[in-house]
Amino acid sequence: MKIIIIASVSNNGIIGYKNKLPWHIPEDLQHFKSTTMGHAILMGRFTFESIGKPLPGRINYIISKKLINTDSKTQDFIVMNNFEDIVYDAFKKGCKKLFIIGGGQVYSNAINLADQMIITLINREYSGDVYFPKFNENEWEIKMKKVFEGYDIINYIRSSQKKVVF
Ligand SMILES: NC(=O)c1ccc[n+]([C@@H]2O[C@H](COP(=O)([O-])OP(=O)(O)OC[C@H]3O[C@@H](n4cnc5c(N)ncnc54)[C@H](OP(=O)(O)O)[C@@H]3O)[C@@H](O)[C@H]2O)c1
Repeated sequence: MKIIIIASVSNNGIIGYKNKLPWHIPEDLQHFKSTTMGHAILMGRFTFESIGKPLPGRINYIISKKLINTDSKTQDFIVMNNFEDIVYDAFKKGCKKLFIIGGGQVYSNAINLADQMIITLINREYSGDVYFPKFNENEWEIKMKKVFEGYDIINYIRSSQKKVVF
């Protein structure tokens, strides 16, 4: 199973403001939807609260130490309080890809688990209160870069053996 970070980041590193996305780029939302559809997604509690509902067509994992663990048979999302259990559960379910979809705390805490990062780099500065974590460019190789009007989509593959293996 591949663990893949997917994020949209402004060119000053911002990803969020007041628990929302600071921008509205329909083409990027469509890219997010088509990339993640049919797979498992993992998000932090704040991101889940910001979206307001589980995203259809995907197995939704919410990571939280505070949310009450729900019965996954009657809910269309699964709450767990650590990454290891989520990765194991997705693996057991036969998922081929687990997308880490944010937000800032989750990206920071999970970057060492990821095999790949799909980053939409928005060619503008934004004000905000949540940043994408700084990462060592030497540990990542750019496999693909697609240029669009106002943003680029960059696909990074891990080039070093720094990934954490459970
Ligand atoms: N630009 C993008 O691509 C993008 C994508 C997603 C989100 N966002 C933005 O990011 C912002 C939200 O990010 P955020 O950093 O404030 O919050 P977050 O990462 O969405 O959620 C943080 C919460 O997740 C739980 N959590 C995180 N790591 C954990 C761990 N190791 N073990 C257990 N629980 C853990 C904790 O929940 P408990 O407190 O319940 O324990 C923590 O308070 C919003 O503005 C949102 O719009 C942007």
